Formats: sequence, C-alpha cells, structure tokens
Amino acid sequence: MKRSHYCNDVREEQIGDRITLFGWVNRRRDHGGVIFIDLRDRSGIVQVVFSPERNVEVHQQAHGLRNEYVLEISGTVSARPKETENPKMDTGLIEVEVDEFKILNESKTLPFLLDDEDLGENTRLTYRFLDLRRPTMQHNLSFRHRVNHTIRNVLDEAGFLDIETPMLTRSTPEGARDYLVPSRVNPGQFYALPQSPQLFKQLLMISGYDRYFQITRCFRDEDLRADRQPEFTQIDLEMAFVDESDVMGITESIIKKSFTTALGIEVNSPIPTITYADAMDKYGLDAPDIRNPLILTDITQQMKNTSFKVFASQSSFKGAGGVRGAVKVLRVPGGAKLTRKQIDNYTKFVEIYGAKGLAWIKINGPWQEDNWQSPIVKFFSDEEKEAIVTATGAETGDILFFGADKLSVVNEALGRLRVAVGNDMEMVDQDAFGFVWVTEFPLLMWDAEAKRFDAVHHPFTAPMEEDLHFMDAEEEEGVKPLHKIRSRAYDLVLNGTEIGGGSIRIHNPEMQLKMLSLLNIDTEEADDKFGFLLKALEFGAPPHGGLALGMDRLIAIMLKTESIRDVIAFPKTQKAGCVLTQSPAAVDHTQLRDLYLRSTFKPKT
Ligand code: AMO
Ligand code: AMP
Repeated sequence: MKRSHYCNDVREEQIGDRITLFGWVNRRRDHGGVIFIDLRDRSGIVQVVFSPERNVEVHQQAHGLRNEYVLEISGTVSARPKETENPKMDTGLIEVEVDEFKILNESKTLPFLLDDEDLGENTRLTYRFLDLRRPTMQHNLSFRHRVNHTIRNVLDEAGFLDIETPMLTRSTPEGARDYLVPSRVNPGQFYALPQSPQLFKQLLMISGYDRYFQITRCFRDEDLRADRQPEFTQIDLEMAFVDESDVMGITESIIKKSFTTALGIEVNSPIPTITYADAMDKYGLDAPDIRNPLILTDITQQMKNTSFKVFASQSSFKGAGGVRGAVKVLRVPGGAKLTRKQIDNYTKFVEIYGAKGLAWIKINGPWQEDNWQSPIVKFFSDEEKEAIVTATGAETGDILFFGADKLSVVNEALGRLRVAVGNDMEMVDQDAFGFVWVTEFPLLMWDAEAKRFDAVHHPFTAPMEEDLHFMDAEEEEGVKPLHKIRSRAYDLVLNGTEIGGGSIRIHNPEMQLKMLSLLNIDTEEADDKFGFLLKALEFGAPPHGGLALGMDRLIAIMLKTESIRDVIAFPKTQKAGCVLTQSPAAVDHTQLRDLYLRSTFKPKT
C-alpha cells in the first residue's frame, strides 16, 4: 500500500475518504470496547479508532498494540462526535475509522515517556533517536530545513555559486585550537579540520568566481557553552568587487527572507548599525542586546580627584597598548527597590567577570537632603554628586551600580550586569528580535600578558585606510598605538548574541605581509603557514569581502531554544562527546601504529 496522507494533513475535507497512513503509536486508550490510538508521524498526530462494530477482527488485533509500534493503517475519515472534538489539535475535528492495519514492527517499552518535559540532557542524548521523535525536535529540525532551503534560494537568486572546500586541510587562524587528523601516507604529518573555509573562499575570489557560498561544517576545539559546539554550521559567503554595504545588504536579504518564510515576521531594514567604540561605551559588550533599555555611563573624568581611593586611582591609570583604568555607572531606573540580598547577588555575579566589588547608590531623593543610600556616598564631594547626576541622568527611585578597574574589566562586568538586571527586572521584550550591526572593530588588540598584539577578527581583515598612519606613529607607553587602527570588520548581533561576522579583506600582498608582521609572524613563518595565500594575492587578486553566519545560533534564537543543541540532530555534550555513539573513543593499537602514533596519556590509577 502507498501512503495517501501524513497524519497531520488529514482534515474535514477528507471525511468519507478511504486513506492510508504510516506511523507510530503515540498513545493507546481502551474505552470499554473501542480502542483509540494517537498515530504519529513527523507531521504530527491523528486519532485512529478501532471499533468492534466496524470490524470485529481488526478490533481484536488492536488489543495487542503498544506504544511506539510501527503501523500501516487503512481506514475511513469521519467527523468526531461533537463532544469529543479537540480544538487544540490540527486534526481535532476528525478521526480515522480503521478497516485494516498491519504491524510493521514492534517496540520495546521506551526508557522514558516522549512527553516527559524534565528529561536530563544525558538521557535525551543517549537515546537521541527517540528524543528526535518528540514533536518539538521534529518541529525544530524541519524549521531548520526550511530556513536552510530559503537561504540557498536567496543566494542562488543573487548569483552565488555553492562551492565545496576541503575538510582535510591546513590550520586557519580563527582563534581556536584545531582538530587534527593524522596522515597515514605522510607519516608524522597532520591535516587540520577547517575552523572555517576562510582561505579557500578568498582563493575562489582570486580565481574569479565572484560570488561564493557554502553551508558547511566548521570545527573548533574550544571550551563549550550553550551557544558553542565543537562542530557547527556556517552559512559562509564571499564576494568580489564589493564594500561593506554589499556584504551587509545580502546578509540582510538572507535574514529578512528567513524570518518571513519560517516565522512570518518582517525584520525592519536597514538593520541599525553601531560602531564597536559606541557599543563598548554604552553597553560594555561588543554583542549588545539592544532590546534592553539600560545603558552605561563613563564617569572616569569626573572621578579623577575623588577621595574614594579605588575610583581615583583607576581614573588616572594608563598602560601600554591603550589599556586604561575607568569608572563607569549602570543606571537602573526603578532599581532603588532592589533588596540587599539582590545587590549582594549581583556583587557576586560581577566577580565572575573579574570585578573587585560593586559599589552602588540608591537614589531615594535629592542628595542635597541626604537621600542617597550607599556605602560610598560619604566619599563624594557635592561637585562629584552633581557630576554623577548630570552624567547619568539619575532620578529618584533609581539605583546606580559602579565599576572601577581596567576599562576591559569594567565593561565586561557592567555589560553582563546590564544584561542580567534588564532580564531580571523584565525590561526586555523576550518576544522581540533585536538586530544590530557592530562595525569598525579594532584591527588588533593588545594582550598585556603575552605583550603582543592579536588580530581581533582574523589576520586577513583589511584596516581602515584613514587609520593606517598609526602603523608608523610614535610609541605610547612603550608600544606603537596599533590598537587605534580600526578594521573593516562587521558583526551581526541578534538579541545579544553574535550570529555572524565578516570583513573586507586585504587584497594586496605587501599589506598582508605587513599585517602578519604586526602579529609577530615573520616572513618565514608567514610563508610556511599562508604561503599559498600570499602567492595568490600576487596574481591579480580582486578587492573582496564576505561574512559567515552561525546557522545553529540563528535557528536557536529564531526558535527561542535554550541551547543550540536543540536545533542540531546529533550534538555534542559540554565535554565535546557524543554519548550516543560513545565518541571520542580509544582506538586499537594497530590503528595507531599505522598512523605512527603512540598515546602518552596515562589514566589515573
Ligand atoms: P567567526 O569566527 O566570527 O568568523 O564565525 C562566524 C559565526 O560562526 C558562529 N560560530 C559558532 N557557532 C557555534 N559554535 C561555535 N563554536 C562557533 N564559533 C563560531 C558564530 C559566528 O558569528 N571566517 C570568518 C567569517 C568571515 O570573515 O567571513 C569566521 O569564521 O555565529
Ligand atoms: P570597600 O571600601 O572595599 O569596603 O568598598 C566599598 C564599596 O565599594 C563596596 O560596595 C564594594 O563592593 C565597592 N567596591 C570596591 N572595589 C570596587 C571596584 N573596583 N569597583 C566597584 N566597586 C568597588
């Protein structure tokens, strides 16, 4: 027999029709004589009925059915009796009266109920093949398919070619550790799995392919979080003869079409843009949740001479590579009602991000009438109090939180605090989608411990022309002010998560070598690692740029799932393992020998 319908597609229009369904027994109910089964396939559920009046034999056989048995059913669609209609189900107005059926396979009793909402992650992942039967997971994966398909169409229509790039390759510097693959035929040598197709897509531009895309797996050996997997999917694209606006434009088309097609939501365009400097200043983070109305204020200048020593000393601190001390304030309207316990919890929270304390002032009325409640207000002069009010716009009923430290620490701590307080105090519309482009990232960031500059995006990102002079500028505090060079990089941020990033690239070989030298990579090392790219740049490289969107993150945010694991069929755990297949796993001795490898790992006894 052939399937005539998916379960969830049966409607009143089919009443009287004879149909054939395939599916699993989701639930069986025996109502004194009549047996009801919720039959489930990937589309959803329909109620099927085995009644003795219709067919005694069929009814008799149905007694043997158990949950998750696989069935083929033929029957006739009928209207449900009025009082048994279920408006919550798509198929709630009808049922299928079974004329004949076949058990295609039996099932053991499941280790858990599919509708158990409180299953541990480990159980879910160990039995992922069952977990994936759950309607939410089936919805998530078909939703992901829909978006994937939409994006391919948008890019195809815009003239992009889908070109595959190697998985066994050399290291690409995206800032994480590589997953390595030993080569049997080249003893002692290793491939790296790609952290991204970055270098290949640039080569494709040099080869004249003009517009490339690929929806592809990337591999990064880094510490995992809810929004990070060791292997994840990028929507990767690159374009020649373009500037930032072209790349951002096509990305917005992808986003807009995905949101209208999969969610029926219109994303406003153009998506607003904020510079990195402004984002750090106002939000403390480079991936701001712009749905959150709270902002930070820098009061470093106003605190230079205060008698609160921590604030005064941070206000005047200056180090190499643009490192400076700062005092910033997070003003929380209505926050004066926070309890001591809540404030203590927030103090512990900012300590996670390196803050040494969290000073606060409750604005219970004008300071002139001694209405500020705070452990530090006694240190402030009248001028300083007035300066705080002017800078922050503080009003009665507010609380002000203060951070004093290196600017990077203050930004991280107060930036995270802003997110936490905004969410806790329900100031963020959780149903909304807040997109923002962050642009003009610094090209290089000073690593104070290693005493060197690192690339903020990757070493192939072009600097902004107008900042090139900093490369030859006088040293400040013992190092060149390279941190002042802005790059032509841009990130797309959604609800406070970076969902994509890209840049206009360097297409001039001298500039590329110069950039590598700023990163302390000398010509020899550059040749060894990126010789092929440097050579290619010498043979007519067009100006080019691109971007990659994180597919898993995008889908997870669209679906508002807690983790990207909920939108990946077979994800890894926090320890980068697959509990289903039990990988990674030890391999046998001969396999290692063939690869000229020996493990030096000694398990603790
Ligand atoms: P980037 O490193 O910013 O850029 O990566 C692009 C996007 O990929 C997603 N992403 C991840 N998603 C899940 N798990 C991870 N471990 C993970 N790491 C990154 C993020 C991120 O914004 N080659 C450049 C792109 C370019 O310049 O064109 C690149 O890979 O959403
Ligand atoms: P103390 O003088 O150490 O008792 O601190 C007084 C208040 O200032 C307390 O609320 C501390 O949490 C806070 N505080 C101390 N150090 C800092 C800092 N570096 N940044 C912000 N607040 C701080």
